[in-house]
Amino acid sequence: MSSTIISTARSAAPVQRVPPPMAMLAELTHRCPLACPYCSNPTALTPGNEELSTEEWIGVFSQAADLGVLHLHLSGGEPAARRDLVELTRAAVSLGLYTNLITSGVGLTETRINDLAEAGLDHIQLSIQGVSPESADRIGGYKGGHERKMAVANWVAGAGIPLTVNAVCHRQNMGEIDAMIELAIRLGARRVEIATVQFHGWAERNKAALMPTREQVEHATRTVAAAREKYQGILVIDYVPADYYSKYPKACMGGWGRVGLNVTPSGRVLPCHAAETIPTLTFKTVREDTLSGIWYESDAFNAYRGEDWMPELCRSCERKQIDFGGCRCQAMALAGDASTTDPVCIRSPLRERLTRETERLSAMSPATLTYRGR
Ligand code: SF4
Ligand code: FES
Repeated sequence: MSSTIISTARSAAPVQRVPPPMAMLAELTHRCPLACPYCSNPTALTPGNEELSTEEWIGVFSQAADLGVLHLHLSGGEPAARRDLVELTRAAVSLGLYTNLITSGVGLTETRINDLAEAGLDHIQLSIQGVSPESADRIGGYKGGHERKMAVANWVAGAGIPLTVNAVCHRQNMGEIDAMIELAIRLGARRVEIATVQFHGWAERNKAALMPTREQVEHATRTVAAAREKYQGILVIDYVPADYYSKYPKACMGGWGRVGLNVTPSGRVLPCHAAETIPTLTFKTVREDTLSGIWYESDAFNAYRGEDWMPELCRSCERKQIDFGGCRCQAMALAGDASTTDPVCIRSPLRERLTRETERLSAMSPATLTYRGR
């Protein structure tokens, strides 16, 4: 990836070398038929009438391609709720972007999938909430959703679009990981992503119901390791472990403002999907500035780049180029300060308290789900 020397003409941010973004997540809409309790979208959703228009989105895609973005993830909410999904896909493909549709499948028909294939869609990520209609529909809060997903997977295979199955796992479905992997194979997926729930946005309200136990997490790690061996050459298994039980935090987003950006349904440009939870930052929209101006020069994107912002604990740590101090939004949520060491880190003074709280939440019962409000 090439390097760009940024100008500081429009902000007080220090001069630093910033590579162009590789990926952009376009949250086309927050509208969604499902009501998953683990939804990481903000508690206040963007109403449909504030979404960017077709022309505006195509303009954003064009700016993204010029900026150096290679991968465009079309997401939501449920992106199929946008009537112009095929048109948007065709436009993105014509700009040379690799297009990935992240969908629950609800709202897709066989005809629409064939139209997406004809428009050049490169890849689909289809979410599942479980392996049986009963368990999956209970988690997704949408009756008939699982059956529809199974049909969608068949249509995707028929259209020849490569498929990844996405499964968010948590205390209520972690015993099904083996079966989810087998289901992904039966559906013709080339890849499955098993991601442990993260407590951003709406999911925060369901911590007590979704927090896995230590035993579940250890069992899941063994299950994934065995499945990777068993299905080598057949299925790629991506696994995002429970970071509350990890020793070190993850390099969230590959580092703040380093690899990718998100654009919300109303065009606000964010370094990650939860960035708006940091009250000290102001994020511009594509109606106010160019994508390039926001990426290279905005105070919000420059806030946690490099090492100058880091607390001494991270600045003097040998892992600072591995995890970049962890997740800023998690630091905000757990420590009330986005510029502190992620409390997941074993070196953080807050780690012990987090461990106690994690164990307390994982032991809570009975656990009632608070479904995503629309
Ligand atoms: Fe990462 Fe900071 Fe912990 Fe070091 S001290 S491992 S850089 S979070
Ligand atoms: Fe925002 Fe991790 S979710 S930095």
